[in-house]
Amino acid sequence: MNLKGRNFLTLKDFSPEEITYLIDLAADLKDKKKKGIPVNHYVGKNVALIFEKTSTRTRCSFEVAAHDMGMGTTYLDPSGSQIGKKESIPDTARVLGRMYDGIEYRGYGQEIVEELAKYAGVPVWNGLTNEYHPTQMLADLLTIREHLGDYKGLKFVYMGDARYNMGNSLMIACAKMGMHFVACTSKEYFPSKELVAQCEEYAKASGGSVALTEDVESGTKDADVIYTDVWVSMGEPDEVWAERIKVLSPYQVNKKVMDNAKDSAIFMHCLPAFHDLKTKIGKEVYEKFGMKELEVTDEVFESKQSVVFDEAENRMHTIKAVMVATLGEQ
Ligand code: CP
Ligand code: NVA
Repeated sequence: MNLKGRNFLTLKDFSPEEITYLIDLAADLKDKKKKGIPVNHYVGKNVALIFEKTSTRTRCSFEVAAHDMGMGTTYLDPSGSQIGKKESIPDTARVLGRMYDGIEYRGYGQEIVEELAKYAGVPVWNGLTNEYHPTQMLADLLTIREHLGDYKGLKFVYMGDARYNMGNSLMIACAKMGMHFVACTSKEYFPSKELVAQCEEYAKASGGSVALTEDVESGTKDADVIYTDVWVSMGEPDEVWAERIKVLSPYQVNKKVMDNAKDSAIFMHCLPAFHDLKTKIGKEVYEKFGMKELEVTDEVFESKQSVVFDEAENRMHTIKAVMVATLGEQ
């Protein structure tokens, strides 16, 4: 398998075999890291990390992975460069492409990262857009494989806003890898018809399926994986909070939901999560709406079934695999 020179913008662009190759590579890199075997022969290469939205996991994963590999990094924060304000994306891409071996971009519309990739001349990696979060998918797939063995035939349930980056990306990943994906949410939060149709095609080829339901009882019954994400994403206006809380509260992941899933079921969340009052936003939402927990209860988040910190760690190993594969295995 050779992915040298490829961009990593959405899993739609990758075949199940290529995705499996990236997961296998990540597992190998993780094993090497645990054993203290260095993979540091990328000295002399440099990567630019553009973040128009904030990040903990994605930024740290790119930086640690790059440093492990011997590469230099430049972090461009949401306000610290000319990007998109004084300088267009095509010009930025051509400038950075002359200096760097790869570019990570986190921001708003998918069209921005696509445009960056069109002009950069070096691999561009999507670190999250409104529409997709593909590096998170690799971490989630590796985590599922570590806990449940294989993907084929697993019932994967996503609860919450299924029209946004996480819902879209998980539906694509599940459909490509042969899982039975269920979006269990209010119908105004169902993914777009176009993406559902595309994923149904992927599922036909992989033996998986795609289903949409508003019914929590049947939707989560005997699930292998229960996944949720924040109800209000980065960049969305504060005004949407009230509506989200009203409509999505029946889709909170709580003990009743986990009890309805298989005994062996795992709970997943890309993080950050809203499960207690230990954050600034958490306190504000509590003061305004009286909610101590939102998309997941603290009980589930802290339970044995929760694998959220394995997912977080796997962000680093899988992002390292994306860089190794697209910069070229050496
Ligand atoms: N899951 C994830 O992308 O986390 P960050 O926003 O902290 O990067
Ligand atoms: N849907 C969330 C994902 C965070 C990793 C957001 O876009 O903010």
